[in-house]
Amino acid sequence: MRTTLFAVAALLVVASAYPRGPDGRLLIVDDDHSFRAPARALNTLANHGYLPRDGKNITKMDIITGLFQGFNVGRDIGLILANVVFKKYGTNTVSLLDLQKHNMIEHDASMTRNDNALGDSTLVNATLLQGLFDSSSDKKVITWKDMVAYRRIRHADSKLRNPNFVWTEDQKKSASGEVTIFQLVFGEWSTGVALDVAKSIFKFEKLPLGWKPHAGTVLAIDVLPRQAMVALLMDSK
Ligand SMILES: *[C@@H]1O[C@H](CO)[C@@H](O)[C@H](O)[C@H]1NC(C)=O
Ligand SMILES: *[C@@H]1O[C@H](CO)[C@@H](O)[C@H](O)[C@H]1NC(C)=O
Repeated sequence: MRTTLFAVAALLVVASAYPRGPDGRLLIVDDDHSFRAPARALNTLANHGYLPRDGKNITKMDIITGLFQGFNVGRDIGLILANVVFKKYGTNTVSLLDLQKHNMIEHDASMTRNDNALGDSTLVNATLLQGLFDSSSDKKVITWKDMVAYRRIRHADSKLRNPNFVWTEDQKKSASGEVTIFQLVFGEWSTGVALDVAKSIFKFEKLPLGWKPHAGTVLAIDVLPRQAMVALLMDSK
């Protein structure tokens, strides 16, 4: 009995040596970033174990389940997103690294990464990231309007400087979807996302301590009309 208790205590000590996410899942950040995506939210899911931690061999069901369990994103919108990915790649599994392939899911005029033709498009560019945080009008929250304004700056910059700038309906859908889902998952549409929450995701790819997904599932009916509005407003003319 004593031995058993000792073994259990030792296990607990070992386990608590690793930081844990809000729901008790181990938080292990893949430091070499070898199998991570351009999408910070997907990397966050992998870091918390809602997607395969090594970022490899991800199925359609993994994406749908991971988004639902980690972010309370409905399976309806999860299916739409997963279909976009797997239709493009034409495979049964993808790695997060595969998503870095330019003009598949990865796109120009990102809020946080260089255009592929202008530099490394896989890692976060610290200047651009700071620009995103600075776009917060009140320095407390980042709203969808702040993000739309920053997207317009990024779009204008790509148009000006990137001779290979690609901006079709696909890129527009991705970019507007990112803004919309980010706002709905990590904040409130009417008030925005707390800046420290945005930093946790974009900079550290971790869920903030104590963060819990919304009680209400984010459904396609929440996302699609707002995404369409963001898409209309986000490009510089
Ligand atoms: C698993 O993922 C790795 C990295 O993308 C790939 O090389 C390997 O072929 C995949 N394995 C299977 C069974 O799909
Ligand atoms: C980061 O982005 C800025 C603004 O586009 C650019 O001037 C700078 O060269 C980029 N830095 C790196 C390391 O790519």
